[in-house]
Amino acid sequence: MNESALLANYSRAPVRFVAGDGCYLIDENGRRYLDAIAGIAVCALGHAHPGIAEAVARQARQLVHASNLYYHEPSGELARELTRRSGFARAFFCNSGTEANEAAIKLARKAAYRRGERERNRILAFSGGFHGRTLGALAATANPEYKVGFAPLPEGFGWAPFNDLAALDAAIDERTAACIIEPVQGESGVHPAREEVLHELRRLCSERGALLIFDEVQCGMGRLGDLFAFQSVGVRPDLLTMAKALGNGLPIGAMLVDGSLADALQPGDHGSTFGGSPVSAAAALAHLCIRDELDLDTHVREVGAHAMTKLAALARALPSFVEPPRGRGLLLGLPLREPVRAAAVADALREQGILVGTAGGNTLRVAPPLIVSTEEIDRLVDAIGSVVAGMGAHATK
Ligand SMILES: Cc1ncc(COP(=O)(O)O)c(C=O)c1O
Repeated sequence: MNESALLANYSRAPVRFVAGDGCYLIDENGRRYLDAIAGIAVCALGHAHPGIAEAVARQARQLVHASNLYYHEPSGELARELTRRSGFARAFFCNSGTEANEAAIKLARKAAYRRGERERNRILAFSGGFHGRTLGALAATANPEYKVGFAPLPEGFGWAPFNDLAALDAAIDERTAACIIEPVQGESGVHPAREEVLHELRRLCSERGALLIFDEVQCGMGRLGDLFAFQSVGVRPDLLTMAKALGNGLPIGAMLVDGSLADALQPGDHGSTFGGSPVSAAAALAHLCIRDELDLDTHVREVGAHAMTKLAALARALPSFVEPPRGRGLLLGLPLREPVRAAAVADALREQGILVGTAGGNTLRVAPPLIVSTEEIDRLVDAIGSVVAGMGAHATK
């Protein structure tokens, strides 16, 4: 590999991909890999989907960029589709998940400021939560390892323990501008928020005048079996952030805003040169249209349930090395027990032509394209089983 001019801020696997095809990535030697991580929960419709490719090509021939100084059709149409499907009032577009969360944090503070509540500027997040790498989203992220060497970070952020109903009451007060939570935490190891915790969080935010932000960057856009994660968990936030799968691989993020907040950001308050650019918005629109045709929500629920059953059976078969799976829909985590290490299992699977992710707490992360079949899930889980069994047997010899 001769990629020495790239900044060394990722630990990349030694593979160079040249093409994609549905649930498969193809390397420079023509080898096909079953992709069970989908570019980290991005390519919901799989790779090189002809409908996305066509929409991107058509839009690129027509108009690539005009800036947010003017209107153009794809972003207006995408805002209309997202608000219609979610019941939210307005959409703001950006380019990534971290930017969507920056927008939500800024909007929450500005909304309080406009109401004259100048002391209400604190953002409450939760242990294990991950919200992005830019300074504001990083400040909201709990894990201190991501922050080493980047101080000083923006002030006004605090954390409550995740999934701890009793801790919420003391954590939210008249200085809390917003609470931000992932309905299913991804990076921490795939931990779903308990529904009673989300309900109580909603109740306390409403009672105490704080906004509730759902970070659906990883768990949204159909991954839990409904288009929006809030629909799967049955709790409605005030602000919703998304990115990753929205453009099926084209860079686009969004913040959806409840009607009561539609005027919180005024011209000049926030912006992005590329946010909601025509090509990315056209890809997102095509994504929404294609997922309807495929009845993807039903498919995700069925295949997700099948995957969960298979992974649970694997955990029962190999209890010394595998813990019960966690997650929902097609965002699944399989915690492993030392001496078997998730990173080593992911490497061994890759050598067999299967791609999975890892997440916190020695966990394998499974987030395939949402079009994945039950046969592909069977192949994946069988391969995980034989790799883990082999490594476990070797380590305990
Ligand atoms: C829940 C969550 N929020 C925010 C982000 C940041 O998104 P991006 O990498 O697009 O900035 C991620 C990325 O993994 C995420 O999982």
